[in-house]
Amino acid sequence: MASTLYTVEHARRLARSRLPRMMFDYIDGGSGDERLYAENTRAFEKIELMPRVLTNVADRDLSSHILGMETGLPFGIAPMGMCAISTPGADSIMAREAAKRRIPLGVSTAASATLESIIEQADGYAWFQLYADPAVEFVDELVGRAEASGYRVLVLTVDVPISSFRIRDLQSGFGFPMKWGLRQLFDLACHPRWSLATLAHSLSHGMPQPMNYATSSQGISFVRGSSRARADWDFLHRLRDRWPHKLVVKGVQAPEDAVRIKAAGADALYVSNHGARQMNAAPPAMTSIAPVRAAIGNDMPLIVDGGVRSGEHVIKAIASGADFVMIGRSAMFGLGAAGATGLADILDSFAREASSVMGLAGKTKIGDIDTSCLAVAHGYSAGD
Ligand code: FNR
Ligand code: LAC
Repeated sequence: MASTLYTVEHARRLARSRLPRMMFDYIDGGSGDERLYAENTRAFEKIELMPRVLTNVADRDLSSHILGMETGLPFGIAPMGMCAISTPGADSIMAREAAKRRIPLGVSTAASATLESIIEQADGYAWFQLYADPAVEFVDELVGRAEASGYRVLVLTVDVPISSFRIRDLQSGFGFPMKWGLRQLFDLACHPRWSLATLAHSLSHGMPQPMNYATSSQGISFVRGSSRARADWDFLHRLRDRWPHKLVVKGVQAPEDAVRIKAAGADALYVSNHGARQMNAAPPAMTSIAPVRAAIGNDMPLIVDGGVRSGEHVIKAIASGADFVMIGRSAMFGLGAAGATGLADILDSFAREASSVMGLAGKTKIGDIDTSCLAVAHGYSAGD
């Protein structure tokens, strides 16, 4: 019996030993020298919460709401492409776990299952993430498919206008389409458990591939390095006119951009630096919450991701001004470590810890957490 995963670090270690190195490195890696990868998480360590006492916090409720969705927890799973490389059938597993907990699952344009199958298995707890792929008709078709299959939240990701300099992928030769050489085959052979499980799943379900592309009437394929520079202000305005439901813009850190996105009619702002996978020189996502919140005011929901590795981090993000938190690699490591059980362990551990930290901060509801929970609000200086 595998032991319960209580920490992301434990899950990461297991995933690292089970996955072929190039797959693990694609998931784990950041851009450039990966200084931001470390800083995204370190930024949480600098935040302190004030313990509050003599309040009855025996009954606590982690439920929340975001973009018209009542959620069981204050966090969801960030959109990630090609999740099936963590474990076979990853998208279905995530969808089922999301439905169970009533939390939103971000469904990537480059998901390894179709957007239709994922929202069905997620019982509606899914948001569709759109990339402005260079193929205009494909993007148009995707928006239509998202609406027809019941998505009510569309997340436009804008921080990948170009692909970034990811050294681990360059070194390992990981790409899409994948070019198989001796080195890559050796990597697979050294990780037989992953390779055999993936092979067995492929025999019944087909090889892992970006299924929204494979099922498109446009007959195009996913090319990882292709430009998504078509996502400009014009594109946003046209998308706003076209999409009748909630629209979120993901990958924003500059307050000026946030103000303009609000003016363009977006329903929520998603602060993110793509988990340190794009601009390595960017500030940590956590430190962008306060300036962006100040710029957009309190009447626009703010979602954040980047470096969230525990339930404590979730509460810290909300105390810093976010309304909702998304987790990326923490979920992928859980999947890579132990499939459905691993993901469930990580989600449950986050929930348990978030509930405990909330109670120790003297709060019983997510809606009551605000900047007054921060130690700095009580005359303490920020830790470093
Ligand atoms: C991502 N991310 C991402 N974002 C997006 O909008 N569309 C996508 O297809 C992907 N793909 C993707 C793949 C993998 C393997 C990772 C790790 C990340 C970024 C993701 O949504 C999120 O912003 C970050 O993962 C958050 O940072 P942490 O939690 O991983 O530190
Ligand atoms: C990445 C792309 C898929 O971060 O968004 O790898």
